[in-house]
Amino acid sequence: MTPDTQKDEFLRVRKIESGIVIDHIPQGNSLRVARILGLDESNQATVSLLMNVPSSSTGLKDIIKIEGRELSERELERIALVAPSATLNVIRGYVVAQKFKAKLPEVVEDVVPCPNPTCISNKEGRPRLHIREHSPLKLQCDYCEKVYSEDEFSF
Ligand code: CTP
Ligand code: ZN
Repeated sequence: MTPDTQKDEFLRVRKIESGIVIDHIPQGNSLRVARILGLDESNQATVSLLMNVPSSSTGLKDIIKIEGRELSERELERIALVAPSATLNVIRGYVVAQKFKAKLPEVVEDVVPCPNPTCISNKEGRPRLHIREHSPLKLQCDYCEKVYSEDEFSF
């Protein structure tokens, strides 16, 4: 990396005072994460969405910074579904107060609807899926018993 691109990146990726930084999102998945968090609907938080940022470990990544906001457990699980490699950073007073990895539970309950429109779980009850494979992620519905990959889920 040349000194010039480092300077540009510093301007793009400014530090925030308080809020959430979702880092290491797989390249191209930040818009899905934004949708999960309702960032396209809420006009309250200041949001920085960075796409195709050079990463030291994985080539290119996406980053989302949300000022003055925390995340719920359910939001974390939904993020883990589309961005299993993501790191959640809680920022307070400009410093990283907490850092944790997105983590999907083995049983994904009431987190995302089954992609099968005729599945009974979409008419009554709560959607419940089990992890069948981690990488690439494959989930099996407890009701229709079909196996789905991550890109089949819509948020
Ligand atoms: N960050 C921010 N505002 C702050 C502090 C950190 O926007 N006040 C961002 C950084 O730009 C980075 C992320 O939060 O994208 C995590 O910060 P930090 O832990 O300092 O970076 P790394 O050590 O590179 O993180 P990791 O090891 O998780 O890659
Ligand atoms: Zn189903």
